[in-house]
Amino acid sequence: MPKVISATANPDKLREISAIFKSLWGEPVEIIARPRELPETIEDGETLEENARLKAKDVFDSISGGELDTLDEPTFIIADDTGLSVDALNGAPGVRSARFAGENATYADNVAKLLAELGDEVNRAAHFSTVIVALFLDGLELVTGGSIEGKILTEPRGNGGFGYDCIFEPTEGGGKTFAEMTAAEKDNLSHRARAINSLREILEQFKD
Ligand code: IMP
Repeated sequence: MPKVISATANPDKLREISAIFKSLWGEPVEIIARPRELPETIEDGETLEENARLKAKDVFDSISGGELDTLDEPTFIIADDTGLSVDALNGAPGVRSARFAGENATYADNVAKLLAELGDEVNRAAHFSTVIVALFLDGLELVTGGSIEGKILTEPRGNGGFGYDCIFEPTEGGGKTFAEMTAAEKDNLSHRARAINSLREILEQFKD
């Protein structure tokens, strides 16, 4: 069974990544959580791809020569970095989405700051982007991406999801915010699912 070591330290993202793999992969996959003893990666890259690579490398270095390193192929580390880009804010918060309202900002702090910065701006267009870096234990690296367009509401709606989900209404979402959808509905169209699906498509080609 393929084994995927998730480089994320965010439990909300780990839950989604596990569910997406379960529904998208053609075969069962074992998702292994980021080693607990590993300190959080300092995400000081300038792009989502750089940050995803930093997270993947940290896990790679921590398992090198250890028990996980001796697992049969195909085993790979998967790191996801995601940003919400708002047109009227010139793409902010973008790569700074996690720390938009400050170093230890909560999801609620970030949402409040975003709504305050947008104010009554009429152009509410925004998109989520996810970049996935998949790092195989032999050093092979694959990079894929996924995005989804939508708009930022003037106030939060819905209790599901996490992060900015309660203020983001995807264009293809039938009028619901991500936070008003079931987990399966979000996973059916999300930026993260698209990036993972594109990784799946690339790996399928490798099989031929
Ligand atoms: P990260 O750097 O990829 O962990 O994510 C940056 C921040 O973006 C997170 O702290 C969340 O606030 C937000 N975020 C990431 N993915 C999602 C999502 O799927 N929905 C809503 N917000 C998200």
